[in-house]
Amino acid sequence: MKILGIETSCDETAASVVEDGRKILSNIVASSWEMHAKTGGVIPETAARAQVLSIIPTISEALNEAELDLTKIDALAITVGPGLIGSLLVGVETAKTLALLYKKPIIPVNHLVAHIYANWLTDKPEPDFPALALVVSGGHTDLVLLKAHGSTSWIGGTRDDAAGEAFDKTARLLGLPYPGGPAISNESAKYLNGGVKTLNFFPRPLAHEKNFEWSFSGLKTAVSRTVGENSSGFDVPRLAAEIQEAIVEVLVEKTLRAVGKFKPKSLLLAGGVAANLRLREKFEFELSKSIFKTDFRVPPPRLCTDNAAYIAACAFYNPARLPWQKIESRPELTIVGLP
Ligand code: KG4
Ligand code: ZN
Repeated sequence: MKILGIETSCDETAASVVEDGRKILSNIVASSWEMHAKTGGVIPETAARAQVLSIIPTISEALNEAELDLTKIDALAITVGPGLIGSLLVGVETAKTLALLYKKPIIPVNHLVAHIYANWLTDKPEPDFPALALVVSGGHTDLVLLKAHGSTSWIGGTRDDAAGEAFDKTARLLGLPYPGGPAISNESAKYLNGGVKTLNFFPRPLAHEKNFEWSFSGLKTAVSRTVGENSSGFDVPRLAAEIQEAIVEVLVEKTLRAVGKFKPKSLLLAGGVAANLRLREKFEFELSKSIFKTDFRVPPPRLCTDNAAYIAACAFYNPARLPWQKIESRPELTIVGLP
């Protein structure tokens, strides 16, 4: 089954064709982040206008690369949220129009659940259930337990800022470009220079509380204060390394606590922040020392950040379990609903 995935929830316009939920036939991402770098973050109106310009060329390129036309596609999958409403509408309306024209079903997809399915787009065998997923993106930090496809329960998450937001906002305070995650990671690498250093300058809120919650807004305040107190000059690589470690350490600690409680067969990392090398490395290291025999999975970095391949993969694994609904007076257009 070949699904055309479309993703327009924020500043990326993405289209991808995936076969049977696992094989990527094409994966095209047009990003407007260079434009947002000029304003230090995403302006929703600007992002939506960029989506309008990119959506048709991106879909065409994805079909060309897969050497298919829309008649050969079995279904369309589209992100319906969460995300910026203007950006989402561009993708949803385009998908609906194409579905009507070509008489194809549309599968609406939740962007956060879909991020997890990047772990199905690898050469490894499918992850075993129950699986615990840590979804760390620009807007969300959530721990989700998957008992099976279509059976997800929320275990915990952030009380305030998301991990990616913490990277983006603290990077801005250091004068680093948007998106902040890769910028902080690069600066940290300069400071660490391949070695190991003690990094404990910033607080680790909620780290010792026996829950599955995080709080990152205090980090922003702590960085802002440090920068303000050292306005004549501060060591950007060192502060970047301290910020990265403060975020990574609490993410790993709380997630491993959840592994201890739920004893999942697989631990799946997902979302843009999962591209962070230090986070991947620390998970691998801590799990190798632990008594848990959890199979740790993390997608390649290019599949962690927003793209449409995981939208198509998520749609493949989820629709059959859900009721089909028909849009009134449009019997040829069927929609599969996610809860
Ligand atoms: O999943 P994503 O592409 O978009 C959302 O759904 O939000 O995540 C974007 C976030 C941004 O906050 C960005 O700074 C962060 O992922 N990010 C990283 C890295 N690459 C992207 N954070 C830390 N290290 C990275 N290498
Ligand atoms: Zn995302």
